Amino acid sequence: MRQLYLFLVCSFFLTLQANSQIVQSPSGNISVLFELNDIGAPFYSAQYNGKAIIQKSALGFMFKNNEAFNKDFIVQKTEIAVIDENWNPVWGEVKTIRNHYHQLAITLQQKSSDKILKIIFRVFDDGVGFRYEFPQQTKMNHFVIQKEETQFHLGSNHKAFWIPGDYNTNEFIYSTTKLSEIDASVSDTYTEISAKHFYDKNAVQTPFMLKTDDGLYINIHEAALVNYPAMNMIVDKSSFTFNAHLVPDAVGNLAYLQTPFVTPWRTIIVSNKAADILNSKIILNLNEPSKIKDASWIKPQKMVGVWWEMHVGKSSWDYSGGQVGSQQQTKVPHGANTANVKRYIDFAAKNGIEGVLVEGWYTGWEDWFGNWKEDVFDFVTAYPDYDVNELSRYAKAKGVKLVMHHETSASVTNYERWMDTAYRFMKNHEMDVVKTGYVGYIIPRGEWHDGQWMVNHYNRVLQKTSDYRIMVDAHEPVRPTGLHRTWPNLLACESARGNEFNAWSKGNPPEHETILPFTRLMGGPMDYTPGIFKIKMSTYNPSTTNQVHTTLVKQLALYVTMYSPLQMAADLPENYEACADAFQFIKDVAVDWDDSKYLLAEPGDYLVVARKEKNKENWFIGAITDEQARSFTTPLDFLNNKQAYVATIYRDADNANWQSNPEAYVIEKFIVDNKTKLNLKLAAGGGCAISIIPANANDLKQIKKYKK
Ligand code: NOJ
Ligand code: CA
Repeated sequence: MRQLYLFLVCSFFLTLQANSQIVQSPSGNISVLFELNDIGAPFYSAQYNGKAIIQKSALGFMFKNNEAFNKDFIVQKTEIAVIDENWNPVWGEVKTIRNHYHQLAITLQQKSSDKILKIIFRVFDDGVGFRYEFPQQTKMNHFVIQKEETQFHLGSNHKAFWIPGDYNTNEFIYSTTKLSEIDASVSDTYTEISAKHFYDKNAVQTPFMLKTDDGLYINIHEAALVNYPAMNMIVDKSSFTFNAHLVPDAVGNLAYLQTPFVTPWRTIIVSNKAADILNSKIILNLNEPSKIKDASWIKPQKMVGVWWEMHVGKSSWDYSGGQVGSQQQTKVPHGANTANVKRYIDFAAKNGIEGVLVEGWYTGWEDWFGNWKEDVFDFVTAYPDYDVNELSRYAKAKGVKLVMHHETSASVTNYERWMDTAYRFMKNHEMDVVKTGYVGYIIPRGEWHDGQWMVNHYNRVLQKTSDYRIMVDAHEPVRPTGLHRTWPNLLACESARGNEFNAWSKGNPPEHETILPFTRLMGGPMDYTPGIFKIKMSTYNPSTTNQVHTTLVKQLALYVTMYSPLQMAADLPENYEACADAFQFIKDVAVDWDDSKYLLAEPGDYLVVARKEKNKENWFIGAITDEQARSFTTPLDFLNNKQAYVATIYRDADNANWQSNPEAYVIEKFIVDNKTKLNLKLAAGGGCAISIIPANANDLKQIKKYKK
């Protein structure tokens, strides 16, 4: 790491007077002003190309018993630093990440208490991160946070993409409104979700996406959430200010801390191009480097699963055949039986898919949902029709790995008791990926999914699984904050409304997948479970109108637009076998990348991204749209200019439409090169998926050149 401490104030760091400091980003396009007012209260503001993006906003805390720690400060010391370094993630959207910022660290002393607070700003060319540090000190050891006073004073009535500030779940449809119109209590998804807990109808969750009237895109989130509650935000509609609102614990405290301590980073990403919000690596850069020294066992991969068949009500998790969440109340077969799992193993082996997830194979599923008792699952005792030894043997012989499922039913105390046993069991059966789940109300009772206690649990799981060399896919955890840099065994999280909602609820509107990259995915990869080919749920239950709100081709494009190193081919093997030519894209698409180029993007409307497969010359393009049909021209100028390629274009048929004709697709092959400009046509609710693979001599003879 090249770290250059500057002892002289250069033009990027300006001391205006004792109590105010400016720090600019490396190119000078972003600047942050820190100031103490006349009662020693700290504030910051930020500008982008001379425009205020954050107006004067408060900083500081209230400790337990109303002890104010947001005023009466004097500046004790300021330190500046310039960092410019490159690092390579274990897996990711790009091979190398540049971490380039100017840092201003201000040490404050509270006159009345003699306590010390440090505030650290890192200013990048694409945004700002800041955090609080409580250094070790004689006047401060243990302390409890009653309120974080951080503000984001936006100052204008921007357009916002938001979900309610629930403490327990993120599985909402996004609302797009002006800031003045935020009203979480009328969010039309909230009635669908059992665990609805709002502090305030003006509360929203981060990552929070904004667009200003003059076309700036601003994203607010946090990085490196460790030993601290998640930050929701409450909008003050008179000044368009967001006030940090931390998720409390069972008795109403926010965080129990001990010096030395650093809070998560508060992040503000800004650009006049929406695509650059998606390119930003600020959140990863603000996380600590990997704690896993030998990461050779961590493998991006695809999986199939005995999973969708339960969500569509064809089979059940529980042995007695009852159904959870399905409209059908008749008994159905138990999904996780030895013969059925072998069918999925065969399918995975035949198609080069590494993992087979099996849900509902261990006892307890009859009595978990809605009952919220403490001891439900032990994660190791199989139902009588599930032969775990035989399936481990069978999977190994076929070169496939079973993927473990640990649905905790949010009884986290129970899970913590079983964790070592369950991970040892996995290793004894040669499994190295676990999907965890936290459906329901947290036990210990009164804790929330997004509070400090649970944040510590999720991090404990990452540490412990890494000791066992196990990779994690967490469902229903707190939304991610880039911790996969520190724990690259965290392949993916759900933490948002996934494709599963399309099986058993009114589902996800066509714009949903165009918003997620700008919100939930800013913190890390999502296990969205794409790849549903049978779009209408009436296939399984003639009386339902539930359906996936995309075309089949858009489901293919999601493998590229919805970045994750763990991708599920979520539909049933028989549905893939019926459309083997379209399934070819899922077989081919990579899950780890050297490079990613966000070509066109607008939150809520569309997204086009091209990615280059890790260590190969193969490229994949994903384009998606909302409920509007759209056309795009995509120049392939990123291709190697010495090479011709075969582009296989999976597109919506001319008469396709997500509602009336969702499964109609066309597959075409052309020879392309870096001069080619592709015209993409997407149906309403549709997409386009393209694989671009180096051509051989035969291809050049047999396949026609793309014209236009
Ligand atoms: C919710 C998860 O998101 C889903 O994937 C899982 O199948 C069910 N819980 C049951 O654990
Ligand atoms: Ca879920």
